[in-house]
Amino acid sequence: MTVTRDRLVHAARDAAKYAHAPYSGFGVGAALLLRNGAIITGTNFENASYGLTLCAETVAIACANAQGHLRDIAEIAIIGGRLGPEGALVGGDPVRPCGRCRQVINEAEQMGGAAILVHCASADGAVVETHRAADLLPHAFGPRDLGIG
Ligand code: THU
Repeated sequence: MTVTRDRLVHAARDAAKYAHAPYSGFGVGAALLLRNGAIITGTNFENASYGLTLCAETVAIACANAQGHLRDIAEIAIIGGRLGPEGALVGGDPVRPCGRCRQVINEAEQMGGAAILVHCASADGAVVETHRAADLLPHAFGPRDLGIG
């Protein structure tokens, strides 16, 4: 595991401690690496009206945007699993971004004008798959289709 990826996966796992996921019991943390080296995190944020749930990746990207950094995202790490005692994540396969998150990542990528790497980690961090965001959402519709970005 590279140092950068390792740092990011750890940041995502730390963030997952704050997952608000009382309904699914499945915590997800996301950590964005900005081009200036800063890290911005997010967690899933569920709602009693289940469909209003926000995913960790979307929360982190909206947070980056709120800080003026939508165009500066270089890499994203995602980790998740069933919430165990004291916020521990328990699970098997790496967590990969859902369809809506892929579209949100595509928005950040096209606005930034440079490829974003997506690291998908298993709950214990032992398995990490790295994908290019464009490979996760081929033939994407995005800002460029509207003449923006
Ligand atoms: N979740 C994420 O945070 N990111 C994803 O890409 C997939 C799913 C969350 C949403 C919900 O709170 C929980 O995982 C179970 O679906």
